[in-house]
Amino acid sequence: MKQYRIAAIPGDGIGQEVIAAGIEVLDALAERDGSFEFAFDPFDWGSDYYKAHGVMMPADGLAQIKDHDAIFFGAVGAPDVPDHITLWGLRLAICQPFDQYANVRPTRILPGITSPLRHVTGPELDWVIVRENSEGEYAGVGGRVHQGHANEVATDVSMMTRSGVERIIRYAFDLARARPRKRLTVVTKSNAQRYAMVMWDEIAAEVAHDFPDVIWDKMLVDAMTMRMVGKPETLDTIVATNLHADILSDLAAALAGSLGIAPTANINPERRFPSMFEPIHGSAFDITGKGIANPVGTFWTACQMLEHLGEKPAADRLMRAVERVTADPALHTPDLGGKATTRQVTDAVIAAIRGDNG
Ligand code: IPM
Ligand code: MG
Repeated sequence: MKQYRIAAIPGDGIGQEVIAAGIEVLDALAERDGSFEFAFDPFDWGSDYYKAHGVMMPADGLAQIKDHDAIFFGAVGAPDVPDHITLWGLRLAICQPFDQYANVRPTRILPGITSPLRHVTGPELDWVIVRENSEGEYAGVGGRVHQGHANEVATDVSMMTRSGVERIIRYAFDLARARPRKRLTVVTKSNAQRYAMVMWDEIAAEVAHDFPDVIWDKMLVDAMTMRMVGKPETLDTIVATNLHADILSDLAAALAGSLGIAPTANINPERRFPSMFEPIHGSAFDITGKGIANPVGTFWTACQMLEHLGEKPAADRLMRAVERVTADPALHTPDLGGKATTRQVTDAVIAAIRGDNG
């Protein structure tokens, strides 16, 4: 029997609750399928680890997970640890060295869920945002001098490399080609930012020659927000810089009903390193321990993980199970306006997996 070794890093807050739910669901799927199984290795890295050891993960942390088939990640962030420490100490400390340069964020309005957009019932909004995940505004280049003085200077320098831009645009064209509508929108801000963003536009036009079957267009990021709200049906696959796509993906999640549903995959397409799968939402300390976190974002990213592992039938079965559950408003958690608990949603998804004959 095939066995997948998964590094489970639940992290902080509700990360613990949703990853526990995700592991139960993945085990139920493996049992239902019968041809593969999971071995989950848990890692207790995160803010509690930081408070005890002064670092978010041990110095040899990457070596401990580099041979796993995938990483299943919850959330990081705690009220009493600065956000840039939790982010750079764990999430980016994994994404960047493992060269997970393609961050893939599907957005759809699942059955039973109401979009805040009045005119949108469901099929009009079906997007995948491809976020550049290794450089740009998150390159970590910059500094502060004369800290605290009146002449203090601070910089965050966005770094864009031709190879980094080309590989993400190529990834996005490939993904667009694999989707039924074969449509890609390249987002930049090349009117105001006249160097790196103009290079993005040029590289997009060059790469497009290799994809004559993909219909593509360009948008400025500010105008893109209006198009997402006003004409969602004109969009399909979207590629943007690290920061632009970060912002657009929150908008996308809100338009699809809740951040609690949204998944994300941090992919190393060459498979030299494990890829990492996580819900988009954060640690949500306001609801931690209440048992009401929405596990759907984690289930959806588990689908992305299964697809990455080559278990497409199991991924499809999980998505069908999730959609059956979201279709029932009695199984909506409070972020969706319902009263259901994480436990109830998880049990219902497991029951749907067991009852699925597809
Ligand atoms: C995301 C998040 C992170 C990001 C935060 C937690 C730093 O917003 O995954 O979209 O900006 O990358
Ligand atoms: Mg974000």
